Amino acid sequence: LEIERLNLDFLSINGNLIIARDDVYPLFLGGNKARKMVKIIEDIENKSCNAVVTTGGIQSNHCRVAALACASKGWECILILHGSGKQFFSEKGNALIMRLSNAKVIFVDAANIGPAMDQAMVGLKDRGLNPYYLPGGGHNKAGVTAYIEAVKELKDALPSGYIVNNIFLASGTGSTQAGIIAGCRSVGWTGTRVIGISIARQKQRGIASINQSLNYISTLPNSFSDDIILYDDFLFGGYGKSNMQLHSFVIDMAKNTGLILDETYTGKAFLGMTEIMKLEMLNGNSLFWHTGGLLNLFA
Ligand SMILES: Cc1ncc(COP(=O)(O)O)c(C=O)c1O
Repeated sequence: LEIERLNLDFLSINGNLIIARDDVYPLFLGGNKARKMVKIIEDIENKSCNAVVTTGGIQSNHCRVAALACASKGWECILILHGSGKQFFSEKGNALIMRLSNAKVIFVDAANIGPAMDQAMVGLKDRGLNPYYLPGGGHNKAGVTAYIEAVKELKDALPSGYIVNNIFLASGTGSTQAGIIAGCRSVGWTGTRVIGISIARQKQRGIASINQSLNYISTLPNSFSDDIILYDDFLFGGYGKSNMQLHSFVIDMAKNTGLILDETYTGKAFLGMTEIMKLEMLNGNSLFWHTGGLLNLFA
């Protein structure tokens, strides 16, 4: 895990901020979904599966990563995409990579994702394959575990005795946030605040999803519930929506720091973080976990 210290004087935020660079995670073109997929591949292999069924949008980072992972292993991959075929075949970014990877794509309305995934599983079994059912976003136990281990990597990458007091990240399905919460507790950072900036969901639904992820890995139900901090003040109208403020912020960050953010995920989270840091006097060392999203810029 690469750690970078940026000069953020232009944002006039106080305190110490470092960046954890999962945007440059080396496999499958990077991002948190790639880090999750490495653990998910282990799970697929442990279960002797040889095909994957998963789901996401036309520009899903998770589906791009799943498609590349399957291509690298020689596994059949079926992507149940919610969105239009026209958009999928004309756009670049993640859609282009999915096309190159030769994954099989099926387009459905959001309401039909579940039945379409079930049908794809049955179809693969009928052909004698052993398919792995992978929830959208890599939202399963292996995905959460990837981030428990990532916090150990983070701790090892920092000077001995360094404690991170606040960790900010973009939160979608919530499994990355859940893994980081559990990971902090497991390395003994009991007071670390893990602050999710929701990029799509209202607070209540987001928290329920993070709780569900925590239950995948904890034998004590809801044992971390009190540790969940999620802001839904930076949705900018919902998933994939943006405005001039966010657009300009992403440009200013690139110009002034060289850090590339996107408007779907990390731009919302970084902007949210700077506003929270200005409003609440957060003490100690802060960290922004950069979860990727570069290809969303190239869509
Ligand atoms: C770039 C990026 N950041 C953050 C997230 C959110 O991750 P999670 O679904 O684990 O909350 C996603 C999920 O799509 C993503 O692609």
